[in-house]
Formats: sequence, C-alpha cells, structure tokens
Amino acid sequence: MQGSVRGMPRIPFGTITVSDHSRRLIGEILDTRRISSGKYVRELENRFSALVGVREAVAVSSGTDADILALAVLHDFGAARGDEVIVPALSFVATGNAVVHAGFRPVFADVRRDTLNIDPDRIEPLITARTRAILPVHLMGKPAEMDRINDIAKRHGLAVIEDAAEAHGAMYKGKPAGSLADLGAFSVYVAHIITCVEGGIVTTDREDYAEVLRSLRSHGRSCNCSRCSLNVDSGYCAKRFRGEEGEDVRFVFDRIGYSCKMNELEAAIGLGAFEMYDAILEKRRRNLLYVLERFGRFAPFLTTIGEEPWERIGPHAIPIVVGEEASFTRAELTRHLEEHGIETRTLFASMPTQCRGFAHLGYRLGEFPNAEYIGKHGIHIGVHQDLGEPEMEYVLSTIGRFVEERQN
Ligand SMILES: Cc1ncc(COP(=O)(O)O)c(C=O)c1O
Repeated sequence: MQGSVRGMPRIPFGTITVSDHSRRLIGEILDTRRISSGKYVRELENRFSALVGVREAVAVSSGTDADILALAVLHDFGAARGDEVIVPALSFVATGNAVVHAGFRPVFADVRRDTLNIDPDRIEPLITARTRAILPVHLMGKPAEMDRINDIAKRHGLAVIEDAAEAHGAMYKGKPAGSLADLGAFSVYVAHIITCVEGGIVTTDREDYAEVLRSLRSHGRSCNCSRCSLNVDSGYCAKRFRGEEGEDVRFVFDRIGYSCKMNELEAAIGLGAFEMYDAILEKRRRNLLYVLERFGRFAPFLTTIGEEPWERIGPHAIPIVVGEEASFTRAELTRHLEEHGIETRTLFASMPTQCRGFAHLGYRLGEFPNAEYIGKHGIHIGVHQDLGEPEMEYVLSTIGRFVEERQN
C-alpha cells in the first residue's frame, strides 16, 4: 500500500511518474541549451495527434490556454468579439474563464445529475443569432453526449470544441475524446495521464485551424509552420523575409495573439509519459472500475457516475455526490476522508452562480439546480497509477464505515 502517516494509508489525489527516457532527454536539452519550443515539442505534438487519431495537435502552456486558443481560432472563421459560446454550468472554472479570455460571452446550460455533463436538452433553447460554438466538457473523463451535441451544432451551423482536459483515454462510440468535434482541448498538468507537469494540447483534423493555433500561441505572428527551422536547428529560414517589402514575417502580426508556447523540458516529461501510457491507463481504469462497480451499496446516500456500453470513461478521478437522503454533509464526509488519509477535491461549482467572477453576467442562484447541487454536495478523489486494489478497498471500507455510522 502507498506510504502511510501514523500507520494510516495515504491516498493522494495525483501523482507523476518521470521516466528514464524523460531524464535522458532533459539532460540532452540542458546540455544543448535548446530549451524553448523546438523539436521535442513537435515530437510530442506528433505523438499526441496519433494517439487521439487526428491530423493536428498544437502544444501550449496549459489546458486553460488550450481551451482559449481552440475558441480564439473561431475569430479567423467569422466569429466576432462578444459572440456567445454555450458551456455547461458545472466544470472546473478554467472552462468558463477560457470563454471570456477568448473574447466570447459564456452562456451556461445546466448539467445532468447522473452524468455530470451538459444536458443536451438545454442547449437548443439557448441558441441565438450570436451563438458561435458549444463547448461540452467530458467531466471526470466521462464523455459528453457528443452525437446529440454535434447534431444540434450541425443544424445551427455552430462549432463544437471538446474540453477534454480530464478525458485522456476516454472513448465515445469507438472514437477517442479529442477527435469527436471540430477541436479538442487537453490539459497535460500533473494530475493527467499524459503529463508535461504544466501544459495543454489542442487537437483538430483541420490544417487551417492548426495554422491559426500556431500563430495564436506565439503572439499572432504571421508565420505558422508546424516545424520551425529557427527553433529546431537554428537554421536559415527561407520563408522569413517574404513580407510585402521583404520584411521579417516573424514580426508581422495577423491577429490578436497570446503567449503560451510549451517548452522542451515540458515536452520531454510528456514524451516519457507516452512510454508508460498503456500501463498507466490500464492501472487507472482498473482502480476506477473497481470502485464504480462496488459503489451502488452506498446509494442513495452517496452516488457516482456509471459507464455505458458505448463509452469508456477516461480514468481521471472518482466523483462522489452526497444525496438528499444523507444525514451527513459534504464537509463531514470530506473531513472523515481527509482524517483517514484520503485526499479530496470538491466537484467544482456552478460557474455562473457559485463563482464570483461570473456575477457580472447576472445569473441568479437557482437557475442551475443540478450544477449547484453538485457544486455544494460533490467531491472527487484519486485513482492514479501509484494506487491499486488495496487502496481502492481502503477507500470503499472507509466510506462504508462512515455511511454506516451516520445512517444508523
Ligand atoms: C475541465 C477542465 N478544463 C480545463 C482545465 C484547465 O487545465 P490547466 O489546469 O492545465 O490549465 C482543467 C484543469 O485540469 C479542467 O479540469
């Protein structure tokens, strides 16, 4: 079992495994001093696009930047500043923040209590002449209802961007998360299966989107090659002085950009994670399913999500929601788990009504009953690769004892 404190097991939320391959690459990168975005970032992008089964992947500094850039691309394809993007009310706050930072107005839709994801029934009534996109989130790695969402988008001419930050390894009807819509946005922060410590990756099948993404991550520059010869081998770039009067296109700016490139050290950590991807995914899946399959015994006091036959949940974490019938609060459950060495996170919040940053949009508490309920009564705990069956058993028995004590 994992390391223990005062004889008690420790079940931390996340972990990171740094491979020997990463250590070797980091040594080489430091020795050659080619540290900013270069050949290893490009290699990471190639491996990530192959993993997700799309033509293009563009690496950036964070999952939030991946969301922002995936949305900001739309400004090159007809969207105007202040146009609307429909998002689930419940997500990590980065999803809503990204919509605002990309120059759009978030329009929130409530989620379903059973899936935690955007309720497709609530999307269509929110569509206006200014709606440009839908940004579903695969929360806790459970795929959103993409067929219905894509169908609505198609009928109304909207783009769909998957927030797949938590959905590494998730599959929907045989296809990986990140390949199910126009663009996908992943986080490769420490808690995720492919991790670069910090970082994000945008996936898409469209080359024209990828070109704009590469420009956006580097200040909106006019140059947007997938492999930059200046960064990769400090070579001469024949395309550089091709501006109207022979000026340097690196200093011609075509659009409002961002500064969010990934660096080589981060890419080296990520490339190492590919070596272990299958083993980590399998281990995390085993942990997740072990708990999900045994969680029914706590209903109706505690509930979680389930896996449908057409999907594979990306093993990010175990969500737990305290039911209306419970005679204990989330705070009491959290304290019990933390006191027993099990690290917890809240299950986020209703962004429009429980996160102050969105107060200016004028939503009122009560408008998103499901998101607000989960925001007040939900937590999530880890399933990472340093844990195994004994730890998952410990989690179940610790929860079991608590429920039994409180309900009797
Ligand atoms: C659903 C969701 N979207 C976006 C993000 C932002 O990712 P990052 O922390 O890498 O910026 C996260 C965080 O992991 C997330 O959970």
